[in-house]
Amino acid sequence: MSDVPDERDHEPVRAEGWVELLETWRVPQDDNVFVEAEGIRLLVHHLASGFYVTSSQCPHEDFTMERCPLRDGAVVCTEHGWAMDVRTGRVVEIGDEDARLPTYEARVFAERVYAKLF
Ligand code: FES
Repeated sequence: MSDVPDERDHEPVRAEGWVELLETWRVPQDDNVFVEAEGIRLLVHHLASGFYVTSSQCPHEDFTMERCPLRDGAVVCTEHGWAMDVRTGRVVEIGDEDARLPTYEARVFAERVYAKLF
């Protein structure tokens, strides 16, 4: 039996490793919000296809992308313009194509966004 939460009958908060991040209304579509949970600095992104959670640390240099915009599903770092797809973490514009922005599995339950951080 899997411990992966199922939105239909389990609260993610009760499954190991899942952490509540914020209420969905706090993240407008095509935007993101910085949050810190369990000591991890994160971005919660809201695309038309749903919510995605990534690290907020740019894979280029030690920079927190606290106020970096989304463009075509990618977060664009305001420091040097690297763009990372928030669904995969892949660098899609400028930057080192082997670099990755860490991503976390995300779920919505009861109008709250959860991420599997551990
Ligand atoms: S620190 Fe983000 S692109 Fe350079």
